[in-house]
Amino acid sequence: MTLVAKHGKALLGEARLPGDKSISHRAALLASLAEGTSTFVNFLDAGVTRSMLRALSDLGIAWQLDGTRLEVTGQGLAGFRSPSQRLNCGNSATTMRLLAGALAASGIPAVLDGSPGLRRRPMQRIVDPLRRMGAGISATAKGTPPLSISPRPAALPLRSLDYKLPVASAQVKSCLLLAGLAAGGVTRLHEPGPSRDHTERMLSEMGVRISSLVNEGEYPYSVELLPPAAQKLSPLQAAIPGDFSSAAFLIAAALFVPGSELTLNGVGLNPTRTGLLEALKAMGADIQICKTGHQAGEPLGDLKVRYSRLIGGTVSGQLVVRMIDEFPVFAVAAAYAHGPTRICQASELRHKESDRIAALVLELNKLGVKAEESLDGFTVYGRGAVNGGTVDPHKDHRLAMALAVAGLASQEPVAVQNATSLIGESFPGFIATLRSLNASFETVT
Ligand code: S3P
Repeated sequence: MTLVAKHGKALLGEARLPGDKSISHRAALLASLAEGTSTFVNFLDAGVTRSMLRALSDLGIAWQLDGTRLEVTGQGLAGFRSPSQRLNCGNSATTMRLLAGALAASGIPAVLDGSPGLRRRPMQRIVDPLRRMGAGISATAKGTPPLSISPRPAALPLRSLDYKLPVASAQVKSCLLLAGLAAGGVTRLHEPGPSRDHTERMLSEMGVRISSLVNEGEYPYSVELLPPAAQKLSPLQAAIPGDFSSAAFLIAAALFVPGSELTLNGVGLNPTRTGLLEALKAMGADIQICKTGHQAGEPLGDLKVRYSRLIGGTVSGQLVVRMIDEFPVFAVAAAYAHGPTRICQASELRHKESDRIAALVLELNKLGVKAEESLDGFTVYGRGAVNGGTVDPHKDHRLAMALAVAGLASQEPVAVQNATSLIGESFPGFIATLRSLNASFETVT
């Protein structure tokens, strides 16, 4: 269905966000590898996490989801049952990459597949290092899904690994850490940027010996997982913080819809995720963090956001990694800012659910916003206004939501084609939450 957003009233009030997508994925998967029953509250029930849960069912894991309360009966590191069919990871690259690591550890054969969109995502980045560890895994000749994993005798551990990730990626890092749970020696990984560290935090909460450190040089972010002697995962009882990446749509909208003032409660504030706050504050955003705390080894807090006059800014380097999922909505905020905003060293954006550099530039242009593509980024020439029009979200859930909020302050409505099912992939309550804060949305078939 098409989602039409119109410039209406100021956004006012309080909201609580659904559980973090990345942490929810890890909760389901790590709990299945633990010995005993784990329970989580505020688990994200959305398209992508359903892909993970479905795959876990196919691997013989029992779980129950009651509202947002997830209970998983873990079977230990070698507890997966051989699946009778291909594991369908849907649109979820997190499901595919993290499961590939867990399957490599478990030694059972499986084929991982997914939607046409997922079949375009790069997988050689996990295949190469997993092979170095001795796992039998292959992708297509183009390095894309499906992935085939061959069996490995239970008595044969994987090899230890000391590996530099060419690109900072939490999915690659997490895949290799999960495989490292079955390695005979230490797994050491080094990254050029600070990718999200939810796997490390949750493994540590489950009793695994894992440590992170920051050094100097080209690959300063390192993590070390100790050999598996007694590396059993203990079950966890935890509450999942609100998803910062979902909060990002509300934060940006409050900044550019005149008169807005929002309070967002219980939002995950892991510093590897909150680069958007720094980028926006540098552009003049009025955002305050209050009532901070910890949940499940993760920092969280309440955010207060007020309408602000934004000026153009620049984002590059490690900040790109710390806001990697937020560029669609950041680009929209940049359109409402005054002056150019430049994004560089961000070529990884070409490998997300869409080529987010090409797609954002194309769709912003349709809304009357001047934007230009470069090899590793783009520039948005903000003029404090967006015309409106009809846009294509390129089968990308974050593009759909970012373009929809663009319509909440535009001169003419913004119609986002085929938006509603995409939104259900990561933030099913997006429309209802924004409507409860005064947003004017209509759905049209
Ligand atoms: C994720 C990591 C990021 C992010 C994705 C979720 C995760 O991908 O874009 O939405 O849960 O680990 P990369 O690790 O490929 O950067």
